[in-house]
Amino acid sequence: MDRFLTADDLAKTLRRDVREGLEARPRTLPPKWFYDERGSALFEEITRLEEYYPTRREREILLARAPDIAAATGARTLLELGAGSGEKTRLLLDALRGTLRAYVPVDVSGDFLAESAARIAADHPRLSVRPVVADYEQHLHLLPSGERRLVAFLGGTVGNMPPAARIGFLAGLRATMGDEDALLLGADLVKDEERLVAAYDDDAGVTAEFNRNVLRVINRELEADFVPAAYEHVAVWNAAEEWIEMRLRSVRDQVVRVRGVDLEVAFDAGEEMRTEISAKFRRERLEAELGAAGLTLAEFWTDGAGDFSLCLARPTKNAPAPA
Ligand code: AVJ
Repeated sequence: MDRFLTADDLAKTLRRDVREGLEARPRTLPPKWFYDERGSALFEEITRLEEYYPTRREREILLARAPDIAAATGARTLLELGAGSGEKTRLLLDALRGTLRAYVPVDVSGDFLAESAARIAADHPRLSVRPVVADYEQHLHLLPSGERRLVAFLGGTVGNMPPAARIGFLAGLRATMGDEDALLLGADLVKDEERLVAAYDDDAGVTAEFNRNVLRVINRELEADFVPAAYEHVAVWNAAEEWIEMRLRSVRDQVVRVRGVDLEVAFDAGEEMRTEISAKFRRERLEAELGAAGLTLAEFWTDGAGDFSLCLARPTKNAPAPA
């Protein structure tokens, strides 16, 4: 397993994110810290909720389009950014069987990565499986190059980045791509507010627990004393930005100590801290942002209900990579 990110790097990044985020107004915490073992299990549970449609819809599209993806790309290497539970990966691996030689799952957590890579290697004995521990926002240029790569970034996770960061990320990705490479991007679509909010505020309260999990992570990693139960889960649709925001609302005045960064933070009753944005897209916007990053949309597939999209994009021909 290649490691471009050590436990120490991660700890440093967490300290910086928490220090900056808790000192900002309004306070923010980046969503990447939800996913310790408990948070990843909670997210898996979210994907099975009635209200949370994206995973189901994306699977439907992959199931229908995997043969088209294989035909259009003839990929030899599948590079998967933020490799999750692996169920969707399986669909792709099966469809790409004819041409695929290597599978490179990329994730910040080595534990899950080693496990799922071993499972996939066992099921695909002729495939070279080379997991990489890396932060895809920092280490894109270090990922293995090769002929005919398909870079998959699924689940709608691209929506967690604010627009400027998103375009920067796509441009960085474009810069690492050869002319024969392709990008497979999963992006959730704008739809009515009621369904969007329900998807991020389920009746069973799983998403609320997932949201509060970031406080437990900080308690453990940075010796903080957040009382998770003293924060309410809030999910709102920001119509101007076209993104869902998750927040944690302090139910009372309270002071939190975060020993690991030597910080004391006072929350007012009702004060809200933003923990995630999850942007929802329209085709035109995806096409424009990909274009700004030097990528051309080749295919735009949606599920039958038009809830979610899979984009296949390629480096724009005859255009220099953007600066
Ligand atoms: C894993 C980032 C795609 O934004 O929908 C699920 C995370 N947050 N419920 C998303 C999430 C709340 C999810 N992604």
